[in-house]
Amino acid sequence: QIATEIVADAAAVAERVSDIILARVRAQPRLTLGLATGRTMVPIYQRLVAAYRAGTVSFRGCTTFNLDEYCGLAAHDPASFHTYMRASFFDHVDLRADHAHVPDGMAADADGESLRYERLIAAAGGIDLQVLGIGINGHIGFNEPGSPLRSRTCRVTLAPETRAANSFSFGEGRAVPSHAITMGIATILDAREIVLVATGRDKKRAVEAALNGPVSEDCPASALRRHHHACLVCDEDVLVR
Ligand code: GLP
Repeated sequence: QIATEIVADAAAVAERVSDIILARVRAQPRLTLGLATGRTMVPIYQRLVAAYRAGTVSFRGCTTFNLDEYCGLAAHDPASFHTYMRASFFDHVDLRADHAHVPDGMAADADGESLRYERLIAAAGGIDLQVLGIGINGHIGFNEPGSPLRSRTCRVTLAPETRAANSFSFGEGRAVPSHAITMGIATILDAREIVLVATGRDKKRAVEAALNGPVSEDCPASALRRHHHACLVCDEDVLVR
């Protein structure tokens, strides 16, 4: 089951989730962290950067693995998750550049890149703490409804609703990529601890399906109920206390 913590609003969610991350990094300076992108994560990274600037944490010993990247977007592309991560976190803390991993969306051989990513995670000793957002359709990473619950890192096709939800990052007239490389659902479940984060009314249905619906490919986030150390932190727009 997924332990659930409901707090007042998005700011309280960011405070709680950043406190969990900071506590783990302080307790285990060589922590391997799984990281997510998306709007939900923005205030969380702001708090992590603020803690680093205040001198209360160091990420120097940490290794990070991002969940996903769009296919066909170079690392320097303004809409790439590489750029998002540099702008919101990597460029502002003491994490070593060679310890910060994001799948290569430009890889000509997506299967080879996926295998390389899996091996990198394994070589780092696996992920200690995976932070996850959730899509309005219940996706985690870019594992859309219908993805096998046993999937490993691979190239996937994005759902129309996901491309629409993420179109804000792309300039007018610029299409959202049709494919991405994402950690698989089984890859995510291998993490020793998972924190799922959700804010806002548009996540209510997906979160309710994940918590109370069947554990099924129809709602990839429902797979988290098979994990023994997964929690959800959300606000009152998502669930009532
Ligand atoms: C995106 C990302 C996920 C993210 C989720 C929610 O498409 N691939 O990693 O957690 O969808 O995004 P947001 O926080 O913007 O709602």
